[in-house]
Amino acid sequence: MGLLVKNLSYTYPGSKRAKPALKNISFELEPGELLLITGAVGSGKTTLIKHLNGILRPQVGIVKVDGLEAGKKAARKKVGLLFQHSKTQLFAKNVYQEIAFGPSNFGIKGKELEFRVQETLSLLGLDPALLQKSPFSLSGGEMRKVALAGILAQKPAYLVLDEPTIGLDPEAREKFRKELESFQNLGIGIVVVTHELEEFLPLAEKILLLKEGKLAFVGRPETYLQQGYFPAPKLSEVLRLLEQKAREREKAKGGKKTEGKAPSPKLKKDIYEADKALGEILGLAAALKNSKNSEFQKENPDPEA
Ligand SMILES: Nc1ncnc2c1ncn2[C@@H]1O[C@H](COP(=O)(O)OP(=O)(O)OP(=O)(O)O)[C@@H](O)[C@H]1O
Ligand SMILES: [Mg+2]
Repeated sequence: MGLLVKNLSYTYPGSKRAKPALKNISFELEPGELLLITGAVGSGKTTLIKHLNGILRPQVGIVKVDGLEAGKKAARKKVGLLFQHSKTQLFAKNVYQEIAFGPSNFGIKGKELEFRVQETLSLLGLDPALLQKSPFSLSGGEMRKVALAGILAQKPAYLVLDEPTIGLDPEAREKFRKELESFQNLGIGIVVVTHELEEFLPLAEKILLLKEGKLAFVGRPETYLQQGYFPAPKLSEVLRLLEQKAREREKAKGGKKTEGKAPSPKLKKDIYEADKALGEILGLAAALKNSKNSEFQKENPDPEA
């Protein structure tokens, strides 16, 4: 069971001298786990996840979904992919048809289909009044939700999301994280491509860092942080989310011990100080580099100048 990617390499067809977009990538994801994929612009994140539901077929290596080859219909049914520009995923006359399209494509009809649509609406907290509207008349955030609803209505075993929170306000981001948690609780395996690690770190079981198409890191978030990989999340943001999560867990248990479990003010202060110090160090390093450059230029004046 799970998602399996093994020794995957891919070069976009075209120029023979094109650099591979992916080189020898391997990882696994169990049902219910959340994997964050990060890396610089153009490092291959979108190319990698397009292999998970068969949009791209591996040129070298294997990609399997619960033991099935990723391109096969039975495997594609299991993986819902929300595009980086999810608006481009929309096409239907109204929101109802938009959400119903996926499941109907896989043979769901009649009352069951209606039920699926309603169920997905309430899972995402979408207003039923939207159902008759054109998806193109909605706000950007609503469009993304409708695109996500269309995917969730297929009841995927795995959900793959490419930069899902770009353009969302802080409140919507927070809601979205809660939704992800509820999907995890349903046993859905989740892959999130993000530049904003700190946002999802407390939910993640695994982190994968791509560098120019190669696997720079894959493993537990703690190891990622200990080894000082960049991009690094802001400690203060991680702390805030962990704190919030601990509070929610206590609330869910119905206990009143919330306050006692929160990190001490001293620890909080230390972490904020550490963030500040790190910022200063990085600033100093940049200033030093600049002054070194200008010294070098003084000693080696440009003959053209
Ligand atoms: N359709 C395509 N044809 C040719 N080359 C492509 C195509 N799509 C992507 N590439 C190239 O493959 C590499 C990886 O692109 P990819 O879109 O996977 O990066 P990414 O990590 O998702 O970047 P971003 O953070 O900007 O979304 C880049 O060098 C890109 O130029
Ligand atoms: Mg991308």
